[in-house]
Amino acid sequence: MVEIEYGKVRIKLGDTAHVYEPAEDSFLLADAALKEAKPGMRILEVGAGSGFVSAVLLANLKDIHLLATEINPHAARCAKANGVEVIRTDLFRGIKPEKPENRFDLILFNPPYLPTSKEEKVPGWLNYAFDGGISGRETLERFLDEARAYLKPGGKILVLISSITGLEAVKEIMKSLGFKADVVERKKVSFEELIVVRGKLL
Ligand SMILES: C[S@@+](CC[C@H](N)C(=O)[O-])C[C@H]1O[C@@H](n2cnc3c(N)ncnc32)[C@H](O)[C@@H]1O
Repeated sequence: MVEIEYGKVRIKLGDTAHVYEPAEDSFLLADAALKEAKPGMRILEVGAGSGFVSAVLLANLKDIHLLATEINPHAARCAKANGVEVIRTDLFRGIKPEKPENRFDLILFNPPYLPTSKEEKVPGWLNYAFDGGISGRETLERFLDEARAYLKPGGKILVLISSITGLEAVKEIMKSLGFKADVVERKKVSFEELIVVRGKLL
């Protein structure tokens, strides 16, 4: 059993063959989320994986309402076992935006961001952790298209991307969808730079 410790949080990973093991990208998003989140906020994490980022927020902030989604059933079970309320679904599907409790102050996503051809796909559910389609932005673009409907007025998103994903392309998409886009964290890690982009609804 793999265990990850981070500040006050200890996460258990049942099976790293099926669930994304938190890494530098997860840590950078957690750091950015800790700076952005405030007590009392309603927060949604899309693609929670092991539940690491959500668990860090729950351990460090009082009185937040946190919900997560995850497409991979192994990861959804793992996040639940780590104390996170998870809906197993594709992005936002099944969350009705017309209900006031489904409007969030902050939405987080560390998406699959690697440009991936048919031949490069990983077998099984773990592929969802990496496969960003040919552009590396396919899942992220769907997320950005839909996120607005789930935000409160003035709400924010935090997305983790890589220099491979194309920072300028992501910022342009965010702007075209009515977000003010700012880089709030960045870190060079081996062959790429990890970047957290904040989008604030205008
Ligand atoms: C790079 S991993 C990040 C996991 C975790 N948030 C972290 O930071 O350690 C991406 C996660 O998003 C999930 N995911 C990918 N596509 C999804 C979709 N369409 N809907 C919900 N979750 C998705 C994957 O299964 C995976 O757990």
